[in-house]
Amino acid sequence: MKTLKSLGDVRGKTVLVRSDFNVPLDGDKITDDGRIRAALPTLTRLAEAGAKVLVMAHLGRPKGEPDPKFSLAPVAKRLGELLGQDVVLAADTVGEDAKKVAAALEEGQVALIENVRFDARETSKDDEERSALADEYAALADLYVSDGFGVVHRAQASVYDIAQKLPSAAGELVFKEIDSLSRATDNPERPYVVILGGSKVSDKLGVIKNLLEKADRLLIGGGMAFTFLKAQGYEVGSSLLEEDQIDTVKGYLKTAEERGVEIVLPVDVIVAPEFKADAPATVVDADAIPDDQMGLDIGPKSAELYASKIADAKTIVWNGPMGVFEFEAFSGGTKAVAQAMSDADGYTIVGGGDSAAAVRTLGFDEATFSHISTGGGASLEFLEGKELPGIAILED
Ligand code: 3PG
Repeated sequence: MKTLKSLGDVRGKTVLVRSDFNVPLDGDKITDDGRIRAALPTLTRLAEAGAKVLVMAHLGRPKGEPDPKFSLAPVAKRLGELLGQDVVLAADTVGEDAKKVAAALEEGQVALIENVRFDARETSKDDEERSALADEYAALADLYVSDGFGVVHRAQASVYDIAQKLPSAAGELVFKEIDSLSRATDNPERPYVVILGGSKVSDKLGVIKNLLEKADRLLIGGGMAFTFLKAQGYEVGSSLLEEDQIDTVKGYLKTAEERGVEIVLPVDVIVAPEFKADAPATVVDADAIPDDQMGLDIGPKSAELYASKIADAKTIVWNGPMGVFEFEAFSGGTKAVAQAMSDADGYTIVGGGDSAAAVRTLGFDEATFSHISTGGGASLEFLEGKELPGIAILED
């Protein structure tokens, strides 16, 4: 893969960097700036080498036109604080203001263009449309650096097409992510344990199928656990359930048994009558979920069981919270898994926007994990062994 070094001397050159600044917001307040901090090594290195750094990124999923709700303004402000310099935000992506901001950049300065998804061509399925937009990006700069690991699974104009228009390289974050995640894909040290959570089984079909060939143990939590419990014949009350995935899950359980992969499901669950922070919470056994209650977290016995399954592992990957950790009453399972990973001696990878955010917002020391990935879908697809377009295009 092409490195920053391959770009040669960048002094005085305008370098267009694709970062992933898709951060969670509460109004205009960033609730987790992990992705912005992860972008700093590349941006600082380029700025210190005298480049004029123009950053592009997306935020959320606007409908292909400017929408103030998805402006990168809060990101520009936070990035400026972290870099210790004012970061100008262009009012558009490839329009007059972006051109003006790019032309006014000085050596060592960092600026940002507006949300690339304000232009419908960015995510277009039409190659020509994306290519035309990529030409407009390319006209703003001399070189391109791909550093938004969280978006390398998207064949979009600012990730994929642009790399064919300018001399390009992977940034430091992309390298670090690949290096760390490869510990789980290339001959992982065993036992190799994967903890999967989050709401939907359907989001994780590919990764589960692939992991049944690689992992020794699969611990399932979060909303998706209920489809597994149902597939085992349990009633799940009003919990999240994907009826159309039950047969697929039954197939996974059978494959796991044939291959000797241990699948660990919750043995108890914290239920409540409704999805609310202050809903009355009760612990019930996994085979005794009342009809009118929904499971919102794994229970304490499950948390203990999962912790014991993590403790002796040599490689541990965690993607997806165990429950609704944003609500204190339903955060115990996610905290227990984070704690077990943080205490483990094995190589620990936290992947997925939500679990990475959970680790930070629940107050864990990031340094006690081997790697906290900035990728959500991207890290899952990497673990699945898929070719990621944003990486493939940067191969030498
Ligand atoms: C993410 O949050 O996983 C990345 O930023 C990609 O976002 P997307 O799923 O909207 O493409």
